[in-house]
Amino acid sequence: MNLTVTKSRITKSNITIPGDKSIAHRALILCTLANGESIIRNIPDSKDINATLNCLKQLGVKLKRDKHNSIRIKPSPFKRPSAPLNTQNSGTAMRLLAGLVATQPFMSVLTGGWQLNKRPMARIIKPLRLMDALIMGKNKDTQAPLIIKGGMLKGKSHKMLIPSAQVKSALLIAGLKAKGITQIKESLPTRNHTENLLKAMGADIKISGLNIKLNPVNKLKPLDITLPGDISSAAYFIAAAILIPGAKIVIHNLGLNPRRIGFIEILRKMGAKIKISCLNQTYFEQIGTLEASYSGTLHATKIDGIILPSLIDEVPLLSVVATQAEGITTIRKAGELRFKESDRISAVVTELKHLKADIKELPDGLLIKGKSPLEGAVCSSHHDHRIAMSLAVAGLTAKGKTIIRNAECISKSFPTFGKQLKKITTKV
Ligand code: S3P
Repeated sequence: MNLTVTKSRITKSNITIPGDKSIAHRALILCTLANGESIIRNIPDSKDINATLNCLKQLGVKLKRDKHNSIRIKPSPFKRPSAPLNTQNSGTAMRLLAGLVATQPFMSVLTGGWQLNKRPMARIIKPLRLMDALIMGKNKDTQAPLIIKGGMLKGKSHKMLIPSAQVKSALLIAGLKAKGITQIKESLPTRNHTENLLKAMGADIKISGLNIKLNPVNKLKPLDITLPGDISSAAYFIAAAILIPGAKIVIHNLGLNPRRIGFIEILRKMGAKIKISCLNQTYFEQIGTLEASYSGTLHATKIDGIILPSLIDEVPLLSVVATQAEGITTIRKAGELRFKESDRISAVVTELKHLKADIKELPDGLLIKGKSPLEGAVCSSHHDHRIAMSLAVAGLTAKGKTIIRNAECISKSFPTFGKQLKKITTKV
């Protein structure tokens, strides 16, 4: 499927964003370990989340999505899956479910689509083995499919060399059912939705800086929550608003977890007009209203180090914004981007060059010289939702028509993106 985007204006301001994907995976999985029925509202109807739902059903979990996107989960003992658990293209689903099935005394096979089965899995295989799970993977235990036989695990201390919220979460989920304390020391702060949900569910978890200590629990308290809008999905509309003359958008009930909003911080540093109001700390996450408007001249910036994990999924989009900022933007120490749904460093460079951006690939990042007028072209999503949606934003500002090939990948996280974009824009 192609997505065609032309130079446009934004004509409507109110935007509703689907529920947060990262929190949805975690809430669904953790609720299977609760001591009663949970309800989670505003669950995104996306391919990634549906993959997690299907895997949980195969494990015997009783759940059903209603027409308002709420799901009730009644925990029951897990059953051995009779077929491989297919997490499709979702890295979060595979890594978090690996942590869950590692607590179970039966054999599970976790597999994914061709993209996911090429992504690195040694990062969960090694620490789960340390906790006594039997676990094997393709290509000398580096990739999925994974075969896992778990049971009574041992709590261990893990020092995380690669900053990864998925790995951290897998180990915390496994640690819930292990004997003894699970300790994790992060190298950089990554998204902490698992920790927040665990606290809300009454787990014995202590956090001090980058150190986490978790004691096993018998049962967690059930959840009754409404997921906030996903900041990583909202990001495309925010970027479009600051780049398009006359634009203004407002998003209510948006997730504004401090470990997810590096994108907002960087945009503000570049000169973007973004206002946050009605900030509210619910019992599991920070939620608020965000208003973004056309910002005129933007300035280049430097991105690396501690802020990176909080904007890791927004780097392709920030690269698009940087093409319209004055000066040279550098993004460094972002080598992890090569292991996402696509090699995002190489994909961004290839595709933005098609649109006539002045951009250079670095081994661990990007160098973007602005401000260069973009020109519409035929480009490829690299089967990566974040590349496709970033190119759509570029296309809104580029001269002429931009055709994004293989844009169906957008349904991985945001199936209504194209429709919503169409609704709020008109051609200029
Ligand atoms: C995610 C963590 C990040 C991010 C991914 C979602 C999560 O991956 O890129 O889109 O929900 O935990 P890593 O844990 O590999 O950094």
